[in-house]
Amino acid sequence: MNESTMIRHLPTLATERLNLRPFTLADAEFVRELAGAPAIYATTQNIPHPYEEGMAEKWIATHASNFYEGRGVQLAITLKEAGRLVGAIALTARPAHKRAELGYWIGLPYWGNGYCTEAAREVIRYGFETLGLHKINAHHLSENPASGRVMEKAGMSREGIMVDHFLKDGAFRSVTAYAILNHAPL
Ligand SMILES: CC(C)(COP(=O)(O)OP(=O)(O)OC[C@H]1O[C@@H](n2cnc3c(N)ncnc32)[C@H](O)[C@@H]1OP(=O)(O)O)[C@@H](O)C(=O)NCCC(=O)NCCS
Repeated sequence: MNESTMIRHLPTLATERLNLRPFTLADAEFVRELAGAPAIYATTQNIPHPYEEGMAEKWIATHASNFYEGRGVQLAITLKEAGRLVGAIALTARPAHKRAELGYWIGLPYWGNGYCTEAAREVIRYGFETLGLHKINAHHLSENPASGRVMEKAGMSREGIMVDHFLKDGAFRSVTAYAILNHAPL
């Protein structure tokens, strides 16, 4: 992220069915409930389990400084109509390379509605058009094809597989890498 990005406000982005907005502390109990489910832990690399009281509040409290200090942006995925929190999506910035890494989860009750794909497309657009990124990459445990499908539907291309890249719960896991490029001139 460049200097002009640092003075921007944490964004709220709208899609057809979703608002992607900054988290507030009022979201914490829902984050804990949704992200704390074993099904979320099973295929992610950074979400704690068990998801203890206070962890969501601590995580949410990092978001403003992450954004204003150029480390990236974390947004709540909410349903426009009901206002309900259904997931989270983030770009973790590597400013020196004009690149960011995309990550996301959707609460289990909301899987299979296309919400993650809709959010990912919008965050990629924001990353390219507003943050001026050149590349957005993402990776998923190879045993988690649903996430790979989201990346494909969001326009990302498969870059390859990193074998035994991640040690989780006593087993080495392979990881599949995806990315999308912004072809705007430097
Ligand atoms: C991966 C995840 C984010 C997908 O969210 P979602 O809102 O259900 O995703 P979408 O509905 O936009 O798309 C899911 C796609 O995966 C497909 N899919 C689901 N299970 C699949 C499987 N076992 N194999 C292949 N494709 C699968 C769906 O059919 C859909 O594709 P389609 O539209 O072509 O039918 C959600 O399952 C999740 O949060 N999982 C746990 C956390 C996680 O894995 N995060 C990503 C870490 S890299």
